[in-house]
Amino acid sequence: WKENDVLIQDDLGNTLSRIKTDKRNGFYSGITAELILKEMIDGGGIITKDDLENYSSIWREAVIGYYKNHKIISMGPPSSGGIALNQLLKGAEMLEVSNYDHNSSDYVHLLSEIESRVYADRATYLGDPDFYKVPQKELISSNYLSERFGTINHLKTPSNQIKEGDIDLIESEETTHFSIVDKFGNAISVTTTINGAYGSKVVVDGAGFLLNNEMDDFSVKPGHPNMFGLVGGEANSIEPNKRMLSSMSPTIIEKDNKLFMVLGTPGGSTIITSVFQTILNVIDFNMGMQEAVDSKKFHHQWLPDAIIIEKNTLSQENINLLKEKGHTFVERNSIGRMDCILIKD
Ligand code: DON
Repeated sequence: WKENDVLIQDDLGNTLSRIKTDKRNGFYSGITAELILKEMIDGGGIITKDDLENYSSIWREAVIGYYKNHKIISMGPPSSGGIALNQLLKGAEMLEVSNYDHNSSDYVHLLSEIESRVYADRATYLGDPDFYKVPQKELISSNYLSERFGTINHLKTPSNQIKEGDIDLIESEETTHFSIVDKFGNAISVTTTINGAYGSKVVVDGAGFLLNNEMDDFSVKPGHPNMFGLVGGEANSIEPNKRMLSSMSPTIIEKDNKLFMVLGTPGGSTIITSVFQTILNVIDFNMGMQEAVDSKKFHHQWLPDAIIIEKNTLSQENINLLKEKGHTFVERNSIGRMDCILIKD
């Protein structure tokens, strides 16, 4: 392909037209379904006609929380995004992270300590709520979180000493984001994922779309990391008809009951922390939207026990200070790809 070439995706266009005309049936039955099933037979896949017929999307309640007078509206289970984001923001508020210089060693240290605890909870308590009783209220309650983050001090806690928080359970035990605001002030925040690059790398012949490799978002066995290094347990184990745990965090923020920000990003496990840090950048560090997006991000997800950091985020001095606290680093070219809108007064 050269610059100015025109790419016409006829197959995908036809599929989208069928969805437009026949709504759900344009995908889960009729020609598109036949093409998917043919792909399954030709490619040795396991999706059956029954699977397609029995699948339907489910309307879920958004997870709502508050950060310094801002109403944070985000995605509930089966994504971990909204709950984790609320935990992170409450942690940021409790530990008053806005008192520290942006990306100073103390700031990175505190956020990483908060993040690793939140991801430890994610590994144990989050999964498809139709199959696993997610203790949603408990996880974002102030009492629970003040205990959870109360152990954070100026020293790094090794991840093997961080377990999920103590919750009294009643029972035992390629991503795309877009944010849109129209002229009337209606806002949508949408994240959709086929998981890895090109998903399962299978295109449904004649239908023009890729099949995902979302099975990797389940935890295949306790302690065994997925492609994002995330570990999990029973809550997110594989079961028929269960939906896998996600990190997607499409989020809408209101301030004084008015639309303030619309945001989200791809990035696997780093989605939640990218959204978290972008919110802090705007609300606490008064950055404009572009600056908050461009600002380098870092990420701690409990396991592996390291801060994943974008290149050139921190000065060598800050890296040394954090190493003295016991932190280790893994460098990455970029974390997340935020797509956001900030409403100016
Ligand atoms: O839902 C999730 O958490 C993953 N399927 C997201 C994967 C992703 O963002 C990959 N893109 N960078």
